[in-house]
Amino acid sequence: MPRHILAIDQGTTSTRAILFDEGGNALATARREFAQHYPQPGWVEHDPDEIWRDTVAAAREAIAAAGLSADAVAGIGITNQRETVVVWDRATGEPIHRAIVWQDRRTASLCAGMKAAGEEAGVRERTGLLIDPYFSATKLAWILDHVAGARARAEKGELAFGTIDSFLLWRLTGGRVHATDVTNAGRTLLYDIRAQQWDQDLCRLFRVPMALLPQVRDNAHVYGTTKADLLGAPIPVAGMAGDQQAALFGQACFDRGMAKSTYGTGCFMLLNTGGDALASQNRLLTTPAYRLDGKMVYALEGSIFIAGAAIKWLRDGIGVITHARETDDMATQVPDNHGVYMVPAFVGLGAPHWDPDARGAIFGLTLGATQAHLARAALEAVAYQTMDLAGAMVADGGETPASLRVDGGMAANDWLCQFLADMIDAPVERPSNLETTALGAAFHAGLATGVWSGLPALAALRSEGRIFTPQMNGAARQSLIAGWRDAVRRTVTD
Ligand code: G3P
Repeated sequence: MPRHILAIDQGTTSTRAILFDEGGNALATARREFAQHYPQPGWVEHDPDEIWRDTVAAAREAIAAAGLSADAVAGIGITNQRETVVVWDRATGEPIHRAIVWQDRRTASLCAGMKAAGEEAGVRERTGLLIDPYFSATKLAWILDHVAGARARAEKGELAFGTIDSFLLWRLTGGRVHATDVTNAGRTLLYDIRAQQWDQDLCRLFRVPMALLPQVRDNAHVYGTTKADLLGAPIPVAGMAGDQQAALFGQACFDRGMAKSTYGTGCFMLLNTGGDALASQNRLLTTPAYRLDGKMVYALEGSIFIAGAAIKWLRDGIGVITHARETDDMATQVPDNHGVYMVPAFVGLGAPHWDPDARGAIFGLTLGATQAHLARAALEAVAYQTMDLAGAMVADGGETPASLRVDGGMAANDWLCQFLADMIDAPVERPSNLETTALGAAFHAGLATGVWSGLPALAALRSEGRIFTPQMNGAARQSLIAGWRDAVRRTVTD
């Protein structure tokens, strides 16, 4: 019986395929970066065909690099950038427009109008989300309104909508399966996360014909089988999950009160709240974490749009550093932050503020401020924002996590992990394998195909890495937090 799992991690800037063995070890990785299209300021698009070509090429490369053939692969797990919208023709499989990416703000005024009309409370109650261009529904409606004939064709059932997982599944199965999973459906603004079904009223509100929508399945589920000629043998697509929920699963946060935070371009923190879909009073999102055998587990999510992107700005925008890893040394070089705070609201502020009009700011500059202080301020901001999310989660009735599990590229930064532990005043656990997103998708596929027997077997595969414990005294911590709060107060626009 085949025992390997192939994870496809289709992210915002790259598409990767990682081949795991049954010990959860990554045997081979193949990666393709792809083009970002910015047709107008604030618009972000991807070419779905390019993503598709990269997916197939990366999958073939990873299997070959591991010295295996397709019949050694028990299943494929797909994880993906969430919310990004693709609409395609059911007859040809061809997209009718480029994918509109989660970062795209083109529907901001439409969202503002809906909020002003008092629609947000009802939407929140059913979806756990806010009305914001970040989510799929208004982008989907935009495509129907701007591609000639699309709305009429959608009504007739000629078109299909999907997030990237769904589009890849369609292509992998040769157009035989149109489905998604609960975590991706739960980010569209069209899915009632408690009733666990597409919602007619929401579809009417956002003007989305229901004929477009995919079937919604558990995360660990045999969705279909790949066309035999694609990868060398038919392989079951046996797991799908949005990338942040996949990371929660890959970090083995299976119990209520366990939390993870992923530091990539942005930062997404999720707290497992078990079978309770907690309604947030602090503008966090309520979101499906995973559903196994029909049993839903929910999470509270805090979404921060800028984390690693601030370090990228230090490098590419103002040339303060030449490589991201220098920030670790720079932050250590200086004894303190010298009163310098950065609020990285480059594209507005996400949770818990949701202020699309705020813009980035640096406070406390004196003649003594240096490049090292700027680097340190950027790192500190990531930790302060995580602390704000953790505080909001507890205020919302989530259990205080005993520790925070971290992953993503920035989690490799030791200084950041220590400062984070000091700010949240709890241990920060960093696994030795930071590829938890792909591992989470593999876990789902391995559960559905019998490679792993259940959650305890998965928890045993988690790689213990390093634990950072809080070391800062209370007064120093409070003084830093006061400085941060003051900087945020001066940045938010409302
Ligand atoms: O919600 C957006 C998130 O899923 C994107 O993740 O890692 O592709 O930037 P990433």
